[in-house]
Order: sequence, then C-alpha cells, then structure tokens
Amino acid sequence: MTSLQTATPPQPSPPTPAASARGLLRTYGQGDTLVTALRGVDLDLPSGRFTAIMGPSGSGKSTLMHCLAGLDQPTEGSISVAGQSLEGMSDDALTRFRRDHVGFVFQAFNLLPMLTAEQNIWLPTELAGRPRPALQDRFDHVVETLGLTGRLTHRPSELSGGQQQRVAIARALLTGPAIVFADEPTGNLDSTSSAEVLSLLRGSVRELGQTVVMVTHELDAAAYADDVVVLADGLVTHHLAAPSRDALVAALAERAA
Ligand SMILES: Nc1ncnc2c1ncn2[C@@H]1O[C@H](COP(=O)(O)OP(=O)(O)OP(=O)(O)O)[C@@H](O)[C@H]1O
Ligand SMILES: [Mg+2]
Repeated sequence: MTSLQTATPPQPSPPTPAASARGLLRTYGQGDTLVTALRGVDLDLPSGRFTAIMGPSGSGKSTLMHCLAGLDQPTEGSISVAGQSLEGMSDDALTRFRRDHVGFVFQAFNLLPMLTAEQNIWLPTELAGRPRPALQDRFDHVVETLGLTGRLTHRPSELSGGQQQRVAIARALLTGPAIVFADEPTGNLDSTSSAEVLSLLRGSVRELGQTVVMVTHELDAAAYADDVVVLADGLVTHHLAAPSRDALVAALAERAA
C-alpha cells in the first residue's frame, strides 16, 4: 500500500482549534433515572493532529464525540467546530453542518449494503450536491492510497472487515472535512487490519493535514495518536501530548476528582 501523499506540502496548523467545548454537560433521563454522562467538559482539539479519546466504559467518550460531531446536543455548554458555534442550530442546520464539515468512521462501518464500494464513497458528496469532477483527483488518490482500486465494484458483503473499514475511511476523507470522528474504528477488526486502518488514519493526518479524533479502548491504537484525552466519570482528567505507554496507563488508572 502506498503512503498518503499530496502535491502540496502540509500547511502549518492554524491557531484556531478544530473543535472546542466549554462547560459541556449532558444528562439523560430525570429524577431517579438521571444519568450525567458529561459533567462540565472543557476541551480544545487542535487542527491537523490525531487525538485519541480514552477512558473506562461509561466515562462519556461516545457522548462527548457525538456532541462534538453535532450528532447529539449537550444539555448545557457550548461547542464550536471549524470556527462555527453549534449552539442553537436547528436539526436541519446541524445536518447540513455535519454534511459539509465532518467525516465519520464507526465501529460498525455503516456502509449501505446495496451500493458498491465506489457508490458508498461518493454518497455523502452526492447528497451534498457537490459536483464530482472537482473531487475526482482526490477520489482517485484516496482510493489508491487505501488500496481499494480493485474493489470499487464490490458490495460491502463481498469485502473483508478491514476493506469495509477502508471504504468508510475513504468516504470520510473524500470531501476533506474539517474533522474526522472515529468511534472505536478498529473494534471489529483483527490485529493486522487494525494496524492498517490506524496507519491510514495516521497518514491522513501527517500527509493530508487531516484532523482526526478517535475514541479507542486500546493502548496500541492510542499509540498512533499525537495526543490523548483521558475521560473519567464525565470529566477530562488528562490531555497528554505523545504520552509514553507507562504515562498513559497511569493516567487511565486515576479516577476523576
Ligand atoms: N441514550 C442514553 N440514555 C441514557 N443513558 C445514556 C444514553 N447514552 C449514554 N448513556 C449513559 O451515559 C454514560 C456515558 O455513556 P457513553 O456511551 O458516552 O460511554 P463510553 O465512554 O462511550 O462507554 P463505552 O466505552 O462502553 O462505549 C453511561 O453511563 C451511559 O449509560
Ligand atoms: Mg462508547
């Protein structure tokens, strides 16, 4: 597989974070059934970096990611992504915002079974009404880099798990979104496919200047990231730059204050 290369060198990261959250509170239910998933999260996610979000099961990782991605709305607090505040946006506006600025990679791939790999990759662009010709070169490059050239006419059921996840990554990268969110993207993959997918995400950051935020349980997966955000009980307890494995294990062992 070739590495992700681009004709122009990566640009220096702008100072504005790709995404920020202030005072993020997210509760579910009420009264006896009230669950507080996020208890006041402040976070800045820098542009052009690969950030892993880690923490115990139930610590609020998916909730945080869904709020940042505009898939869920916080009970309180503010979010801005790509310099745009999500506060007060209608459902329609949020849908448009996601379509134009955000890419997703899920554990379950979320490909449409009746469409070929190629049709799946183009689908969000088509829904957004963006003309294909402007993106054809990027499509060819992303598809080649992800090793999908010979698989474009296959339907998801005719692809391995690793190949399906590569199709999902190609779909997320095609439009050059401000930020790609990945929730346990290697959760359903064997170790070889996992390493491949993580290298591709890593390469998209290094060589395309993509911003990637990935929720993961795996220390091995977090090792591909530049930064690691650790959550515990709905709060950010650490935001570490290139932590060693030992530092990460120690941070994960701590409880929220
Ligand atoms: N729709 C919901 N209704 C009620 N409670 C919810 C809902 N979604 C999440 N929660 C609760 O919010 C808390 C945080 O959940 P979240 O899914 O964000 O955790 P997580 O860190 O992603 O966990 P995992 O590692 O298991 O995926 C949990 O206690 C969970 O039970
Ligand atoms: Mg989760």
